[in-house]
Amino acid sequence: MRREMSNLELARTFERTFAGGPATVICRAPGRVNLLGEHTDYNGLPVLPMTIDRAITVVARVNADGRFRLRNTDPHFSAGEFVNAAAIPPSRQGSWINYSKAAIEGVNGYLGVEGFAGMDLLYHGTIPPAAGLSSSSAMVVATALAYMRAVGHEVDSERRRIELAAMLAQAERYVGVHGGGMDQAIILLGATGCACKIDFFPLRVERVPVFDDYVFVICNSLVMADKSGSAIHRYNEGPLTCRLIRALVEKQARLAYDEEIEIEHLGDLWYGPLCLTHSEVEALFAEAFPTPRTTLAQAASLLDTTEAEIRRKWLGDLPEPEGGFPLQARARHQLTETARVEQGRDCLLAGDAVTFGALMNESHRSCAENYFVSSEHLDRLVNAARSAGSLGSRLTGAGFGGCTVNLVGVEDIGRFGAGVAAAYYQAFLGRPLCDPYENDWMLVARPVGPADCEDL
Ligand code: GLA
Repeated sequence: MRREMSNLELARTFERTFAGGPATVICRAPGRVNLLGEHTDYNGLPVLPMTIDRAITVVARVNADGRFRLRNTDPHFSAGEFVNAAAIPPSRQGSWINYSKAAIEGVNGYLGVEGFAGMDLLYHGTIPPAAGLSSSSAMVVATALAYMRAVGHEVDSERRRIELAAMLAQAERYVGVHGGGMDQAIILLGATGCACKIDFFPLRVERVPVFDDYVFVICNSLVMADKSGSAIHRYNEGPLTCRLIRALVEKQARLAYDEEIEIEHLGDLWYGPLCLTHSEVEALFAEAFPTPRTTLAQAASLLDTTEAEIRRKWLGDLPEPEGGFPLQARARHQLTETARVEQGRDCLLAGDAVTFGALMNESHRSCAENYFVSSEHLDRLVNAARSAGSLGSRLTGAGFGGCTVNLVGVEDIGRFGAGVAAAYYQAFLGRPLCDPYENDWMLVARPVGPADCEDL
């Protein structure tokens, strides 16, 4: 497992790595685990994540030549270099360098930077990559904070953090993923001992203390799911089909309520001027998606447009599945997952771990059956965890692999670990039986403070 390094160790490694003097700033951005609200953020619907005690740390210094030089303490990430400019051409798809480029290009636009400084940056990460724990957004946030500090811009208030989180969510789309804003928001706005209910457009954060006598345990399926690499198309299927769902629901809302209604995000149904109740949205969805599948041809006729236009505006070249897109189930996931986030927040406030666990189980079912983001490995891991005594278990993050999150009694952590180790890591994956916590396959998640910088 990759351990945290002290500031001193990192400063020394920096000096050994780059000629020309010491680093001047260190920025640390935590990873996150999402408890409820999966694949809802890009629709402007709420999520309930918390930070974890794993981070991406960057030690940095401005250099004299306008170039960014990137090194990583993990030799799996090869060195990179690029010229700072208003528009920075991307590296190959899936390259870790793109997350740095995304942050720098985003900050340049946000601050209207004109004289483009270069920087030497050394990264150290303890968040397992491609595991659904947001190592990528942690890198984006740490890089942006280091660069902003270098150009003399302090992120010194909650308001600026909110603004920066919303900006970086857009900026990260540079890597080709149509993600939402959950990760950047929790990384910049999370709090020690708390989960956060996050709403979008505009970004709002409510901090809610986690349970005292139950913990969230993260289990890694050990299947990598790199959403900016191999899993990019599977991830983007969600946001792209939701654009078509939005258009069809808007059409339905115009018929039901008023000609003028505009719905920019699905979330506007609940939280925008329409202010619909859960049952009203449910009724609208039932009218918009009367059958399980909607073909492109049907959508075009409902929207009074052409298939080519639908592709141009919303779907891109997403292949049409046999029988059409499963919009009914995908819309159902948005509806029920939104309700679970609201209920989950109430359960945290009331200390009701049992109901919270049931919501997690329901969420996993919906992610698998209505949203198609689970996998055989994740389903097995979730089942192993439930049999080992979790109150609730679900996949976390984008899905397709990566981690699950499980609600476990504090006193049951050892028994739970042993049960999952035997049923999943040993019996299913064929790994030798060992302590899964020691081995970094499992992690007791403790929410920490948000991303921050210090001068060295
Ligand atoms: C990834 C994205 C987030 C969110 C989750 C799924 O982590 O970066 O914006 O969509 O997947 O909930």
